[in-house]
Amino acid sequence: MESPFKTDILKGKVALLTGGGSGIGFEMATQFGKHGASVAIMGRRKHILDSAVATLQSQGIQAIGLEGDVRKQEDANRVVESTVKHFGRLDILVNNAAGNFLVSAEDLSPNGFRTVLDIDSVGTFTMCHEALKYLKKGGPGKGPASGGTIVNISATLHYTASWYQIHVSAAKAAVDSLTRSLALEWGTDYDIRVNGIAPGPIGDTVGTRKLIPDEIKSKTREYMPLYKMGEKRDIAMAALYLASDAGKYINGTTIVVDGGLWLSRPRHLPKEAVKELSRVVEKRSREAPIGVPKSKL
Ligand code: COA
Repeated sequence: MESPFKTDILKGKVALLTGGGSGIGFEMATQFGKHGASVAIMGRRKHILDSAVATLQSQGIQAIGLEGDVRKQEDANRVVESTVKHFGRLDILVNNAAGNFLVSAEDLSPNGFRTVLDIDSVGTFTMCHEALKYLKKGGPGKGPASGGTIVNISATLHYTASWYQIHVSAAKAAVDSLTRSLALEWGTDYDIRVNGIAPGPIGDTVGTRKLIPDEIKSKTREYMPLYKMGEKRDIAMAALYLASDAGKYINGTTIVVDGGLWLSRPRHLPKEAVKELSRVVEKRSREAPIGVPKSKL
């Protein structure tokens, strides 16, 4: 599918994406590459990274794979340094690595809770922390002429409350908070824009397979009428928008890309019934306004 953006909007930029070897991370890496960026993808599994890099390179994209776990500060540091060593600079950091599984709060161990916060929230902060000196305007090497930018992948789970997602809801609430705090501090001090994307259910991803297993798919529309699966490309287009000049005045915002799903509520009354009932209720309230005794009418 043709891109709505010009193919050079990220020309000369270098992007580092955590969890970039598969799923949404890989699609973002691909689209960044197709729009002119060189990309470094970080992940824990070498064979996934190797095959992702081969696919990117086969499309003419300058790409490297760097093994590492965002939970380890030494890995974060090494990956950032290797990216700059290889490409000479860093302009865009995408914090996409995340952990998830369905579990009731009662059955979740404190270590399970901590593990997800370590990956999503602490991992995001650690990567930002290690990348800062290169994202600063005029940072070491051929640093960005204006400040670089950060995109944090979040969720909508914590806008209300989500069943069996207490760990991820807490972790992504922290990510959104990081997005705003860094946007304020680093936007002011270093001209770095920090934004987020909150994806809805995206087809063909581990996250969606874990959260909406096939066994419950058919029931989903009953309680989420706006339920519609998105595509990885939908998230990649939002990331391109935020990372490119198109988003140059956007800072501290998390864009929801979910087809409106988080607003979904089961319909409690059919549309035809509401017309009829509304008139009946109107008539009733005119005949007996609240607080006015019937004898006074
Ligand atoms: N239900 C309940 N608890 C679970 C669980 C599940 N399905 N999966 C893991 N846990 C708990 C473990 O029991 C453990 O806690 P404990 O020590 O008290 O028993 C803790 O979480 C850590 O599990 P472990 O398997 O050691 O962690 P890990 O570092 O190998 O893997 C995960 C991290 C669990 C987040 C794993 O799912 C992962 O690597 N995910 C990355 C990919 C992903 O989830 N992508 C989707 C993103 S939306």
